Amino acid sequence: MSASHDEDRLLQHEYDGIQEYDNPMPRWWLYIFWGSIVWAALFWFNVPGIGVGEGRIADYDASVAAAAAEFPQPVNTGPDVAALLAMSTDPAALATGKTVFAAYCSACHAADGGGVIGPNLTDNSWIHGGSPEAIYTTVHDGVLDKGMPAWGQSLKPDEVSAVVAYVISLQGTTPAAPKAAEGIAATDPPPSGS
Ligand code: HEC
Repeated sequence: MSASHDEDRLLQHEYDGIQEYDNPMPRWWLYIFWGSIVWAALFWFNVPGIGVGEGRIADYDASVAAAAAEFPQPVNTGPDVAALLAMSTDPAALATGKTVFAAYCSACHAADGGGVIGPNLTDNSWIHGGSPEAIYTTVHDGVLDKGMPAWGQSLKPDEVSAVVAYVISLQGTTPAAPKAAEGIAATDPPPSGS
């Protein structure tokens, strides 16, 4: 650095007593600068051997395929109806279901299932069917265009079953502010009879 001191090229203008040098950038700096531009172009055009692996696009596809294999999309394999009905009278399962319902469902269906944005879950009328299979399918797959999320995507399988059992157990209860019935009344009378 000090060796090149006498080569400093001073520009001829001066403003308020301030003058400036016009020295070239160091060679090593310029090589890195141009090199990174060339590298970026090769990288953008996905030239294999630039960066790791097969090029960025193939690498990305491989990562996505690996993740898809490791975390398969939840498939609705259908509920075990006998187990759901047993859970709907089992206090431990209902306690879990009630906790899940309070956390994820009460905002739209009210804490007691009477309905807010979502329909009343205590009455005998169902938009998507009131059988254990139908309730399970609605909860698992959701009704996305109507605002009912697909809980199979975000809850654990046990939690889905527990909350479905809890919904089954709400049948015939009397919520504080029931929403008017929506959908079709089920042909079977509710357990309480009416
Ligand atoms: C963001 C609001 C929202 C949340 C949260 C929500 N739901 Fe829903 N739910 C809806 C709406 C809206 C409908 C009505 C869908 C339609 O009109 O087709 C619905 C419908 C349903 C139905 C079908 C009712 C019928 O008459 O067929 C069930 C069962 C149900 N929800 C259960 C649940 C459970 C269990 C949870 C929590 C795990 C939950 N919902 C969370 C909005 C919600």
